[in-house]
Amino acid sequence: MIEQDIHKGLAGVVVDYTAISKVNPDSNSLLYRGYPVQELAARCSFEEVAFLLWHSELPTPEELAEFTHRERAGRHLDPALKTVIDSLPVTTHPMDVCRTAASVMGARHPLAGGSSREVNLIKALDLFAAMPAVVAYDQRRRHGQDQVAPRNDLDYSANFLWMTFGNEAAPEVVEAFKVSMILYAEHSFNASTFTGRVIASTLSDLHSAVTGAIGALKGSLHGGANEAVMHTFDEIGIQPEESRDQAAARAAAWMGDALARKNKVMGFGHRVYKNGDSRVPIMKTALDKIAAHYGRSELLGLYEGLEIAMDEAKGIKPNVDYPVGPAYHLMGFDTPTFTPLFVASRIIGWTAHIMEQLDANSLIRPLAAYNGIEERHLRE
Ligand code: ACO
Repeated sequence: MIEQDIHKGLAGVVVDYTAISKVNPDSNSLLYRGYPVQELAARCSFEEVAFLLWHSELPTPEELAEFTHRERAGRHLDPALKTVIDSLPVTTHPMDVCRTAASVMGARHPLAGGSSREVNLIKALDLFAAMPAVVAYDQRRRHGQDQVAPRNDLDYSANFLWMTFGNEAAPEVVEAFKVSMILYAEHSFNASTFTGRVIASTLSDLHSAVTGAIGALKGSLHGGANEAVMHTFDEIGIQPEESRDQAAARAAAWMGDALARKNKVMGFGHRVYKNGDSRVPIMKTALDKIAAHYGRSELLGLYEGLEIAMDEAKGIKPNVDYPVGPAYHLMGFDTPTFTPLFVASRIIGWTAHIMEQLDANSLIRPLAAYNGIEERHLRE
């Protein structure tokens, strides 16, 4: 076999240009269209960030009003889609429900056959507006509850919480949810975005690309890690009466055991960031605030016990899924709903990349080095 350079996992390979976001692991920074994500999370609504990622600039007040109007008009759960969801067993994983919903929305879209940038912007906004109703209803039906109609007087984040829980969330909870949505919205050529770009590059349609991206995000090495973090917390044992220090000590002992058994601990490590994920500090601040709101400092003890033990043992830092998992748990989301929340946000980044791919398309088709059986022939 001729030796060739193999880029296993495409690690370190630069595949194309992108103007959507810049991930800089050296300076530990993440820019959306040039703006630091920390500034956007602190000062903008999720709707403004969505507009920015799609249109390259923040909206003017008039543009924001028009965008908000269209997003609010698209929030309802299409009855035909609800029938499809109801046909799925309640034991279906919510990511499978999301993936099915994206596919159904594509098949039923009035502009299904179109693929111009204008049509794709409409499709992207429709997906963005409608996915919260899917995620919220799916969690509710698993508890035997009916859907809650959207509220047009609430912004995206407050309405998402309203449709899931049927009551108005406290301002610090809405803020933490909004921060998570902004931090999850975009992260360059990650596995699911790349999946979406590969599908778009074949000149397939936007919904097919998003459906495939959802499949890629489901895996525990990618978006599924936020769920897996909660499984870790559950395995250690959540004890709300416990002190922060006691919880930290139990978590540190658990980590010692896990690493001695050479287990991978979900929510730690990142393919690009090797000195810490730029999104973690701002999400940890949001988590601190809601832990104080709910009076649950012991969860922070578990968080910090694991974090410190991992750092001391292996120098590996948490990724964004680590603070998001316990934050969603405190808000009341079921653990299997966590990754669908990531989907609802990342629809923005995926669709921005799909449109960018189509603006300067080249079919994505790598090569492989063959290492199978050499040429042979059937017997005479
Ligand atoms: N727990 C324990 N050890 C780890 C972890 C971890 N979470 N992450 C990396 N390591 C160790 C590996 O065992 C390996 O050690 P070794 O050299 O002694 O064999 C070394 O660090 C390098 O790890 P790789 O997996 O080769 O690094 P890679 O860049 O390929 O992986 C990845 C990145 C897949 C994210 C990895 O860190 C991981 O599996 N983390 C857990 C899953 C997770 O949290 N994913 C979410 C990513 S962020 C997101 O999708 C939003």
